[in-house]
Amino acid sequence: MQVVVLAAGQGKRMRSVLPKVLQPIAGRPMLAHVLATARALGSAQICVVYGHGGERVREALDAPDLAWALQAPQLGTGHAVQQALPCLTDGEMALVLYGDVPLIGEATLRRLLDAAGTDRLALLTVELDDPTGYGRIVRGADGAVQRIVEHKDASEAERALHEVNTGILVAPVVQLRDWLGRLRNDNAQGEYYLTDIISMAVDAGVEVVAAQPDDVAETLGVNNKQQLAELERRHQAMRASALLEQGVTLIDPARLDIRGALRCGQDVQIDVNCVFEGEVTLADGVQVGANCVIRNARIGAGTRIAPFSHIEDTQMGEACVIGPYARTRPGTALGDDVHLGNFVEVKNSRIANHSKANHLAYVGDADIGERVNVGAGTITCNYDGANKFRTIIEDDVFIGSDTQLVAPVRVGKGATLGAGTTLSKDAPAGQLTVSRARQTSVPGWKRPVKQPK
Ligand code: UD1
Ligand code: CA
Repeated sequence: MQVVVLAAGQGKRMRSVLPKVLQPIAGRPMLAHVLATARALGSAQICVVYGHGGERVREALDAPDLAWALQAPQLGTGHAVQQALPCLTDGEMALVLYGDVPLIGEATLRRLLDAAGTDRLALLTVELDDPTGYGRIVRGADGAVQRIVEHKDASEAERALHEVNTGILVAPVVQLRDWLGRLRNDNAQGEYYLTDIISMAVDAGVEVVAAQPDDVAETLGVNNKQQLAELERRHQAMRASALLEQGVTLIDPARLDIRGALRCGQDVQIDVNCVFEGEVTLADGVQVGANCVIRNARIGAGTRIAPFSHIEDTQMGEACVIGPYARTRPGTALGDDVHLGNFVEVKNSRIANHSKANHLAYVGDADIGERVNVGAGTITCNYDGANKFRTIIEDDVFIGSDTQLVAPVRVGKGATLGAGTTLSKDAPAGQLTVSRARQTSVPGWKRPVKQPK
């Protein structure tokens, strides 16, 4: 099976410099969704028909398994598929998809391909309450598809038909070549219509069959930002529904955004307004509070992430307690039972089991051992303006509040740092190190009083 993806349309109604098929659904270009589906079907060849100014599309999505065919000028859908013919192999079946119909699903397409078999023409059709604008499926008295008539060319009687062409079809390559070569543009739009091949198939005695999608949303196209936003929600609803099906608890499936792959174990709970990006894995029993953003992360079993936390390129062990308002940046690796509280930022650091930083801290480029307590307001001074250095904190260290650790620096096992310490040399194991001026009190000192005017 080979796939042709039509992506030459300009998409002026997007009112954007970004080509239409690069506009994102779930953070990924619409065309990338279609290509992923084509790949999932095991397509032997994918040919993308791109248009004027489409170089940007090609640059953005080029891959070794793609062939590109330029369509300039754009003379209709039949003309567009014609441009892909050099990429197609006789004896194969060709599936026609659209770069601006991003939600088309694998299961639906498998059914369409099955219907086509090795020698039939298969159309994906839907029944619409309001079919205005679409090509209508004209069937004979026996119910067999006879032809498609475009809305603009249709009679009143034909316009009353509610079964419409989605544009998606499968045809044998050999016949497709022949039919496309015989298209004419003597119609209401002066275009070479792909849809005219249906009556040619009927004339040639090729059986024409129709299949329907699992969900009408799969066949919806995008021409403007309104439709883009609608399909984004439809896509998210499908993702949420798949998670619910798996047993994930979503407090409100309508308030969830997944832009990538989200894998969940058993009894995972996700509160409202969370965004998941890239590859995220939530192990059994993970709870994610409201308004969290989690990107490229693996979260261990039983870990709880409280509201408004921001997690990026991070690994967390089991039973951690994170947030609210915690931020972990790239290169964060937490062991088990690690606690990060409000306004704690961690970057490129390892924090081992049972260690805690509960309030207002910056841990950057650090290695923190087990059972370490990082006091409120503690900061690793990892950057001298030119270079970054590491801070090593060994097991069982207690760091008093408002401490600055000027890297490179090491705190030995079991050491205690007094509150307010600015540590610029290594602190020996097992001892108290403190670097603040001794406290003094001035007996008899009087507060200044306001001078009489
Ligand atoms: C087409 C179908 C119609 C169907 C409808 C579904 C034809 C003649 N009509 O109509 O039966 O109900 O889609 O939405 O096929 N494209 C190109 N090059 C071109 C023209 C179009 O690549 O020269 C691409 C567009 O980018 C778009 C798709 O083909 O992705 C459909 O084109 P569009 O002009 O929207 O077709 P419709 O007139 O809506
Ligand atoms: Ca259209």
